[in-house]
Amino acid sequence: MIRKFNYKTKEMLLEHADEVGVRLPFSDDISVLANRVKISDTDIETKNSMTIHPMEGFDSEPDGSPSELTMRRIRRFAEGGAGLIWCEACVVVPEARTSIGQLWIHEENLDSFKRMAETAHELSDGAPVILQLTHSGRVSRPDNNPHPIIAYHNPLMNEKFDIPADYPVATDEYFDSLPEKFGNAARMAKEAGFDGADIKCCHKYLFSELLSAYTREGRYGGSFENRTRLFVDSIKAASVWKDRRFVIASRFGPYDCMPYPWGFGADRDDYLKIDWDEPDRLYDIMYENGVRLVDMTLGTPYYNPHVNRPYDNGGYEPPEDRLVGVSRLIEAAGHMKKHNPDITLIGTGYSYLRKFAPNVGAGAILEGKCDAVGFGRMSFAYPDFAKDILGENGFDDRKTCLTCSKCTALMRKISCTGCPIRDREPYLEIYRKVFEEK
Ligand SMILES: Cc1cc2nc3c(=O)[nH]c(=O)nc-3n(C[C@H](O)[C@H](O)[C@H](O)COP(=O)(O)O)c2cc1C
Repeated sequence: MIRKFNYKTKEMLLEHADEVGVRLPFSDDISVLANRVKISDTDIETKNSMTIHPMEGFDSEPDGSPSELTMRRIRRFAEGGAGLIWCEACVVVPEARTSIGQLWIHEENLDSFKRMAETAHELSDGAPVILQLTHSGRVSRPDNNPHPIIAYHNPLMNEKFDIPADYPVATDEYFDSLPEKFGNAARMAKEAGFDGADIKCCHKYLFSELLSAYTREGRYGGSFENRTRLFVDSIKAASVWKDRRFVIASRFGPYDCMPYPWGFGADRDDYLKIDWDEPDRLYDIMYENGVRLVDMTLGTPYYNPHVNRPYDNGGYEPPEDRLVGVSRLIEAAGHMKKHNPDITLIGTGYSYLRKFAPNVGAGAILEGKCDAVGFGRMSFAYPDFAKDILGENGFDDRKTCLTCSKCTALMRKISCTGCPIRDREPYLEIYRKVFEEK
């Protein structure tokens, strides 16, 4: 039976996991979550083993700098006590913004990013702060209208984005120009005081879309080397700025959960299974070229959000039990950690578990499936989760994320987003305006 979250006790949760054929790592002792994590061969250390995933708020100023609402989010994250703050998607070229409200780092607004890093450091008492650098590819809407930049025609994604079959594909020359932009943005992130730059490759944004560009011709399509070229060249360009106090990181998705030839990392005969051959090879290449910190993820929010962030209520009823989705995320991290233990790895899948998130997170770390556990939607709903988990009061079940997908629904309307349920002022009013006052 596919069921929603109504597990009152640990026994009910683990029993249902068993019924649907998965095993969740579960530890009653959660003290491991208090441990600091040294990031690979750097001198950077997290404050504990819980991190904030990158969570976009669609609320930057038109010039790409963080707005008051963006800064409010950063302050809440920093004061919440998480061990590391991974700041949201920030483009390196303006044509690649998902909306006028997406962060964009450039020379003219560098001071605003300095304030962002400074604020996060100050209020978190020194937690490392990473900036996610991205190119939104087919999701590009720089003036809030679609101007997709696509690597190849993927009928499954074209349908989602209403892209006609004769829409022009981005040229090799355009791609050739991008690594320098990522290198430059990494330099700016360092100058602004961030502890690392994330070269994002997940969720079918540009670099991740290229990983499955089997049908593309030229230098960026077909072979494994060609499909990974832009991502790897961008890592190399960013790694110029790497040192013991500045880490090159990646939000990396090894598996799209889409059928061949439209998805990366999927078994060609059964796309519901991961084929680790190419993801493992790429993970090694990432390491060889300087990546030391990965925040892993799977699937894409645009095609199979239930894979990316298991939810109780969302756009469609998931085709699998939610705990199967949670387990896939945890076990995939376990594979990656085992494959290359020298990359510090942040796992995902925990927001769905509500009050059991600390126990399963602690279990995953104790079983060596990841070094730290990341929280996305939970950080919108309950930014103080880490402080409470480690504090005397404990984790408060009444404050957890309910995985209702309202934050995503706002984002899909190209609106500022946050949690209208747990963070009512200002998001309930924003939600009402977007959905009710039509
Ligand atoms: C509203 C919203 C915004 C997000 N923004 C980003 C982002 O900027 N960058 C990114 O890599 N992932 C982003 N994600 C994905 C999350 O980082 C995370 O992978 C996902 O929510 C699953 O984690 P969770 O189960 O803890 O929520 C976003 C997700 C949501 C719902």
